[in-house]
Amino acid sequence: MSRKLIIAANWKMNKGPSETGDFLKTFLAKIAPLTSNCEVVVAPPFVSLPIASELLANSNVELAAQNVSQFDSGAYTGEVNVVMLKELYVRHVILGHSERRSIYGETDAVINGKIKKAREANLRPIFCIGETLEEREAGKLEEVLRRQVRGGLDGVSEKDLLDCVLAYEPVWAIGTGVTASPEQAQEAHAFVRSLLAELYGKTVSEKIRIQYGGSVKAGNAAELMGQPDIDGALVGGASLEPQSFLDLIQNGVAG
Ligand code: PGA
Repeated sequence: MSRKLIIAANWKMNKGPSETGDFLKTFLAKIAPLTSNCEVVVAPPFVSLPIASELLANSNVELAAQNVSQFDSGAYTGEVNVVMLKELYVRHVILGHSERRSIYGETDAVINGKIKKAREANLRPIFCIGETLEEREAGKLEEVLRRQVRGGLDGVSEKDLLDCVLAYEPVWAIGTGVTASPEQAQEAHAFVRSLLAELYGKTVSEKIRIQYGGSVKAGNAAELMGQPDIDGALVGGASLEPQSFLDLIQNGVAG
């Protein structure tokens, strides 16, 4: 089963509109040849989505948001809904990121609400899961991943799942410079795919792309993305400079 790679930049709370504009002008001048073998996605902060949307309009690079509300509209101070994102031609939305879980207290049920709301508007969730170091060391890796996958996808139809990407991001590898070894990552990815097979059947599970995230950089991209169940990357730190992100994509495609 061949799945097209999907590599996404998660800029987190970095790059306002002017920095976003500068990055994309440099990046777009060089990215085109790489997009035939790889879907490339950029997720700037909300305030930078309008400029990014304008600059990406005639490119092969797709736009993502880093979050969305599970509610429709109204009295939810500080929140942004799916309709607002659609108006800016946003295609994907990162949901369930460990920073949203740990800093903002998002539960599996909240994330599930957001995934369903995103799908109602035909946004494509990049659904993040992953264990902490404590959980891994306590032998709870599979239990945590099972709970996150089942909880996040509760009531999500097969048709909607097919428009989701999963991102396995071990929390201990995010922003730490410590990457899961390709073997550790492959093992977790294969397990996540087996969970999807339990829930949706083997055929569907083999169509779903699972990104790896956590200190991915140009130097480890090929080895990670060369693993059979790793179908791309969700990249924080190494996506903040155009050349480092380009090198990472180039190596990932070669892997
Ligand atoms: P990192 O972040 O590449 O800086 O580790 C990845 C992520 O949080 O998605």
